[in-house]
Amino acid sequence: MNKAMIFDTHAHYDDEAFDPDREELLSSMEKNGIGTIVNVGASINGLKDVVDLVENYPFIYGAVGIHPDDAAEMTEETLEEIRRISRMEKMVAIGEIGLDYYWHKEEEEHEVQKKMFRAQMDIARAEKLPFMIHSREAAKDTLDIVKEYMQGGMYGGIIHCFSYGKEIAREYLDMGLCLGIGGVATFKNARKLKEVVEYAPLSQIVLETDCPYLSPEPNRGKRNSSLNLFYVAETIAEIKGITPEEVIAVTEKNARELLF
Ligand code: NI
Repeated sequence: MNKAMIFDTHAHYDDEAFDPDREELLSSMEKNGIGTIVNVGASINGLKDVVDLVENYPFIYGAVGIHPDDAAEMTEETLEEIRRISRMEKMVAIGEIGLDYYWHKEEEEHEVQKKMFRAQMDIARAEKLPFMIHSREAAKDTLDIVKEYMQGGMYGGIIHCFSYGKEIAREYLDMGLCLGIGGVATFKNARKLKEVVEYAPLSQIVLETDCPYLSPEPNRGKRNSSLNLFYVAETIAEIKGITPEEVIAVTEKNARELLF
């Protein structure tokens, strides 16, 4: 049997942090054990870059969506563009979408975010694609909307960069959704997330970088890339008392089953 390769379910290689060496870095993935990457859309201007990456690299797939930070700038045309791109080859999810009340404190902003979150969940349902959720300091509202949609029938999803406690984790796991686990799990002060990793079945965990952000220990603070996912796999393995190889193999299978 071939050794399983790492599946990074959430990366932003269109980010300008990769401008100096994007091609060199991406060309080094395969020989370093990184098999598949999903490049996730976030900004309105970045959607075209996601399409370019997907077309240029056979192992890169795409997710199309607009981050809650940009919700206020979205129009009907933006939604139409998301719908159009989502039908292209190698587009495997709608994301990242959701709610962020950490950077946006006004009630009015929350209402706009919820409206655009719902509009993109509608696209995920209509196009039969899984969703990728970004949720920060918006635990209840995110959960309410996800629950509402799951009851109406969806095609699975990932709670990206999961940042809440065990109680919220259980709600998502009970709905059959996956938790995206990345660099934060390796941080020494991440007690709450380590508890979640211990609690969640490995069959509902996927690996992610969110690169260029959230580099794991021992590279915390530096630019992140998929090459660092070995550290995350090691941490999950330690918490669960299994081998990193098993973590890599199972999370790869989880991602494949959900997204392909
Ligand atoms: Ni992200």
